[in-house]
Amino acid sequence: MVDLDENTVTDATLEQMATTANPRLKQVMDAAVRHLHAFAREVNLTPEEWILGMQFLTRVGQACTPLRQEFILLSDVLGLSAVVNALHDKKAKELGSQSSLLGPFFREGAPELPMGAQIVEKPTAEEIVIHGTVSDTHGAPLADAFIQVWQTSERGLYDLQEREGESMDMRGNFRTGPDGTYRFRTVRPLGYSIPMDGPVGELVQAQGRHGMRPSHIHMLIGANGHRELVTALYFGDDKHIDSDTVFGVSQSLVVEAKADPTSPVPGLRSVRYDFRLAKAAPGESGRVGADPTTFLNKAAE
Ligand code: BEZ
Ligand code: FE
Repeated sequence: MVDLDENTVTDATLEQMATTANPRLKQVMDAAVRHLHAFAREVNLTPEEWILGMQFLTRVGQACTPLRQEFILLSDVLGLSAVVNALHDKKAKELGSQSSLLGPFFREGAPELPMGAQIVEKPTAEEIVIHGTVSDTHGAPLADAFIQVWQTSERGLYDLQEREGESMDMRGNFRTGPDGTYRFRTVRPLGYSIPMDGPVGELVQAQGRHGMRPSHIHMLIGANGHRELVTALYFGDDKHIDSDTVFGVSQSLVVEAKADPTSPVPGLRSVRYDFRLAKAAPGESGRVGADPTTFLNKAAE
C-alpha cells in the first residue's frame, strides 16, 4: 500500500480509472482528473474554498429551469464554450463562415416567414435590412437553405424576457431563394446584459466584469450535406465589441448597417453578409448550447 499525498493521489486515481471501457471517456476523465488535481495544488485549495466551490456549483444546478441553463452560462463566461466552438471549427473539412455561440435564447419552432419579412412585430426604432447569400465554400449558391434568426429588441431584451407567456417575437425562419439569396427586415438590436440574477452573475460581478454582450443578431443556417452554421453578426460600433462577456465576437462577424444605394429595400440602411457553409462530415453535430427546453428534455430521456 502506498502512502497517499497530494501528488501520489493523482496516479492512484488514474490507476483505478484504468478499467474504463470506453476509450474516449477514459481520455477525457484522465485529463480532467490530472488538471483538477494540478489546479488544487497550484492554488493550494483550502477546505473552506473547496466547500464554497461545491456550494457554488450546487446553486448553478438549482438555477437551471426549463427556460434557463445556468451551467451553459457558466461555460460561456469562463470562455469554455468559445474554446469548444473554435475546436469544432478547426475540425471542418473546409473553411466556412466563422461560428459563434448559440446562447440560451434560441427557440425551436419560430414562424417561417417569406423572403424580406420584418421579424419584429411592432418596430419602434429604425428598420434595417439584413441580406446576402448562402453558398458552399466554392461560392456555389445554396438554394432552400434554412436560416433561423433571433435577436433582442431595440430595448435589449429577448421575447422570453419581455413578454408574458410563450409567444414569439424578434425571430423568424427563412429559406434562401434559388440563387442562394436571403433577406429580412428587423430593427437594430440593443446590446444586453447576460442574466446576472443568478450565481453566474454573482461571479461575474465579483470579478468586476460588466456582464454585457455587444449588439448582435443570431443566425443558425442549415443546408443539405453541409455543416450547420451557428453564428451571429455583431455591430462594430457597440461599445462592448471588444469585451464581450462570453467571447462570441470574431473580426469576420463584425458588421455595420450602411446607407447603401444597392440596398434591396431603398431608403433603409442595410447589412450585407454572405455566408459560406462547409461540407458536412458524416454524423457531425456542432451546437454549443441548445434550446434549453430540448436540452432538459433530452437529459431526462
Ligand atoms: C446570447 O447571445 O444570447 C447569450 C450567449 C451567451 C450567454 C448569454 C447570452
Ligand atoms: Fe444573444
